[in-house]
Amino acid sequence: MQFDRNELTLFVTDDGSYTLKHPAFPETYHSKFGAVTEAITVFLENSQVNNRLQQGLPTHVLEIGFGSGLNFLLTASCAKQHQCDLSYTAFENRLPPMSIIVELLNKNTTDCDNEIEALQRTLSHPPVIKASVNRYSTLTMINTDVRTYEMPGNTFDAIYLDAFSVSQNPQLWQSHFLKALHGTLKPGGTLATYSVNRLFKDALTAAGFDWKKLPGPAGKREVIVATAGC
Ligand SMILES: C[S@@+](CC[C@H](N)C(=O)[O-])C[C@H]1O[C@@H](n2cnc3c(N)ncnc32)[C@H](O)[C@@H]1O
Repeated sequence: MQFDRNELTLFVTDDGSYTLKHPAFPETYHSKFGAVTEAITVFLENSQVNNRLQQGLPTHVLEIGFGSGLNFLLTASCAKQHQCDLSYTAFENRLPPMSIIVELLNKNTTDCDNEIEALQRTLSHPPVIKASVNRYSTLTMINTDVRTYEMPGNTFDAIYLDAFSVSQNPQLWQSHFLKALHGTLKPGGTLATYSVNRLFKDALTAAGFDWKKLPGPAGKREVIVATAGC
């Protein structure tokens, strides 16, 4: 299922960056307190992806919920900055229209024109899109319900779990799905997310993760980072 262009609007957040909002839906795609701030702290930093790229370690990221592509673009920009290879696999079952993705990404970044053009060229070819967006970063975007996909074992260094909340996308926060995510991480790999929901934390434990709380960005006292045991 896809959105019509005028079903989604750009929403300015407290750090001046933009996210997407559906008028009839209670949640925005990123935090209202700062979209770019949330993407950088909760996903790039807490997952250690930022550190890995800085250290020159080629990194394979899995994202659950590609949405506007903001987490992806900031990660690809980080890979370019550190001249380190990034392989990024993302799932999305309701891709926003390309025109609003491009508008949002152009508003939120200054050094990613080539990457946005590459996305614009390739994202209109579902169901599986492969794009090389800069010299270091490749995106595989799988336009399907992630629950129907059989995850490969021992593949990813980090997961960004960025579905809508437990109340909107309950199955993506339950132990059955989290076990599949645990199995697809390399030993010691990390899962980063914004949710601290109690049932989700219990499900992480049941799925075999070690997890801890970290201070959240503005508007969120704590967030979670989980590790797949070695
Ligand atoms: C919070 S938004 C993601 C924001 C995104 N990471 C970004 O950088 O803009 C959650 C996304 O998860 C997607 N989603 C929800 N359930 C899904 C499922 N079962 N399979 C794939 N994607 C799903 C939604 O369509 C939505 O785009």
